[in-house]
Amino acid sequence: MKAAVISLGSESSRWTIEAMKKYFDSVDNVDLKNIEVNLSSGKSDVLYNGKPLKSYDCIYAKGSFRYAQTLRAVTGVYYPSTYMPIKAGAFTVGHDKLLTHLFLQQAKIPMPTTYLTSSPTAAKKILQKVNYPIIFKFPSGTGGKGVMYAESFAAASSLMDALESLRQPFLIQEYIETGGEDIRVIVVGDKVVAAMKRKAVVGEKRANIHSGGEGEAFLPDTHMKKIAVDAAKVIGADICAVDMLESVKGPVVVELNLSPGLQGVTLATGINVADKMAKFLSEKTKHFTDKGTKKGAGDIIKEIAIDKGAKEQQILSNLDFRGERVLLPKIVTDIANLNDKEEFVIKVKKGKVEIGKI
Ligand SMILES: Nc1ncnc2c1ncn2[C@@H]1O[C@H](COP(=O)(O)OP(=O)(O)O)[C@@H](O)[C@H]1O
Ligand SMILES: [Mg+2]
Repeated sequence: MKAAVISLGSESSRWTIEAMKKYFDSVDNVDLKNIEVNLSSGKSDVLYNGKPLKSYDCIYAKGSFRYAQTLRAVTGVYYPSTYMPIKAGAFTVGHDKLLTHLFLQQAKIPMPTTYLTSSPTAAKKILQKVNYPIIFKFPSGTGGKGVMYAESFAAASSLMDALESLRQPFLIQEYIETGGEDIRVIVVGDKVVAAMKRKAVVGEKRANIHSGGEGEAFLPDTHMKKIAVDAAKVIGADICAVDMLESVKGPVVVELNLSPGLQGVTLATGINVADKMAKFLSEKTKHFTDKGTKKGAGDIIKEIAIDKGAKEQQILSNLDFRGERVLLPKIVTDIANLNDKEEFVIKVKKGKVEIGKI
């Protein structure tokens, strides 16, 4: 099995690539910055350093919100034929806090109450009715730097004026009192493979503003794990980090990170997170390629090809679906003597397909 990691080449990506080498025959390190996607009607090409990107069994594409569109386009091209842990749409949604909130809210995943406004007047009205303190946030992830805290209406009002004058879009969010702690949960498939608690430095509200980047191991309960796994599913990511806050009403999700750093959580928990991801990627890829080629079907059929001389033969088989289409084994075309020069009539009803020469 051949794999590639398309990323910005961070330390975490290097760890992931090294870990994947244990499970894949080859793992290419593809620099997202040198990827180009040519979109044309009916066909799209992904170029890497100006040449077509090779084909792989597994591509783990990830990167920062600045590359969301490229990641989405690359995934759109490769997803049907390659196992990719993050769906195309996830890059658009996951890299935008507002879209993330809209998706999670529809799926009834608990989050802090969040307000979105379309005008300064509407925003002022919200500021008049909310409880303080509150949080202002930029829609794209910023490692904590786009998260602002306002203790009172006066503070919020002037902060909002500044954001408005900079034409900077923002969300207004209920402040969850956690003593400056947040929980980062790493989701891989249906499982939480590691989790850590991060604590803000003294005088700071944002747990992810680096206090040296340390966290401590945390064991989420079943409820919290389920919320994290569900959130990842809703966004369409088999691998991601889910940032949560423990509110008095239970855990709430504040953010999903499609390209989480591995050093902090590995150090805090002692869990080899890169290895967990790599193993999962290989299992999924195996499953994906088995499904795609269904080598078995054709071979088995050969073995049970029943009495070639008979007028009608029966073949017992699973159907080999390639995307939405069914691929018939060669033996079927051989026996039926189908060819692409003639025309056929296909009769279809529920549970039955009949192909005959006209
Ligand atoms: N609604 C909130 N209430 C309290 N603290 C919050 C809230 N939202 C974010 N924080 C704090 O700010 C940090 C960064 O917020 P987050 O939404 O994850 O943005 P970023 O993309 O910058 O990481 C969180 O890890 C948490 O400590
Ligand atoms: Mg965060």
